[in-house]
Amino acid sequence: MQPPESLPDKSLARRSFAAAAASYDGAAVLQQEIGRRLLERLDLVRLRPQRILDLGAGTGQCLPGLLRRYRGAEVVALDIALPMLQRARARGRWLRRPRCVCADAERLPFADARFDLVFSNLMLQWSLDIEAAFRELQRILRPGGLLLFTTFGPDTLHELRDSWGQADGYSHVNAFADMHDLGDALVRSRFADPVMDVERLTVTYPDLGKLMRELKQIGAHNVTAGRPRGLTGKGRLRRLESAYERYRRDGVLPASYEVVYGHAWATSCETSIPLESLRR
Ligand SMILES: C[S@@+](CC[C@H](N)C(=O)[O-])C[C@H]1O[C@@H](n2cnc3c(N)ncnc32)[C@H](O)[C@@H]1O
Repeated sequence: MQPPESLPDKSLARRSFAAAAASYDGAAVLQQEIGRRLLERLDLVRLRPQRILDLGAGTGQCLPGLLRRYRGAEVVALDIALPMLQRARARGRWLRRPRCVCADAERLPFADARFDLVFSNLMLQWSLDIEAAFRELQRILRPGGLLLFTTFGPDTLHELRDSWGQADGYSHVNAFADMHDLGDALVRSRFADPVMDVERLTVTYPDLGKLMRELKQIGAHNVTAGRPRGLTGKGRLRRLESAYERYRRDGVLPASYEVVYGHAWATSCETSIPLESLRR
């Protein structure tokens, strides 16, 4: 089944992140800052996790923070793009080496109740079926375990989405889920007490080319299923640039990011079977 137009094409996203592994760290300043803020939130949580999963760990920017915070814990880094994990492995000198697993967040190769904490910075917006991803996380967390994540909300890159809309009408920017829909999906996946909040950040660029290059360097350029095929013609690019120029303020072009922070607690996977049905 083809994903809807504005959802990411998963195999293309994997290839795109694989190709961006070498340039990711140099360009992912925003991702690093959001990761730092997400790690800080762990200070407010009374949890001594023994087994931690960094879901969509990328080049491992958040791994040193996790290893430092939880010195005795086993940390597993999982990503769908192998070259990202290879960068993570090669990252500096490790306090303790994290285990690296190349797999899809929607089909995790772990036993039930394996982890106490799942930490995920800016990966879940790449999921095609967020509820399937949450169900997997509920399965691999022990009851009482914590899921802590960030993802992007619908206002993210709205200037780029609207400008492309004017330039050629194709889908170029992922559709991002609303905070309330994420909360509902968590509840449907039997997570308890979901808490969500949103932070709005704006990054500015001297020109559109710089923003587009940066998105490519982190592997997050256009990988939607409804993207136009073939090369982008000069005419389309010119129309895009002039549409984006409408947003210029104080000499710079803004790119908006709606960052959604969420956490929720895993519940017991037990299901109750009425005695009657067993007798039958
Ligand atoms: C924006 S990067 C974030 C990386 C890292 N968490 C950080 O803070 O820098 C998103 C990562 O999610 C990974 N990813 C995307 N879809 C995935 C999936 N379905 N399963 C596992 N990883 C995925 C990508 O390969 C990429 O490394």
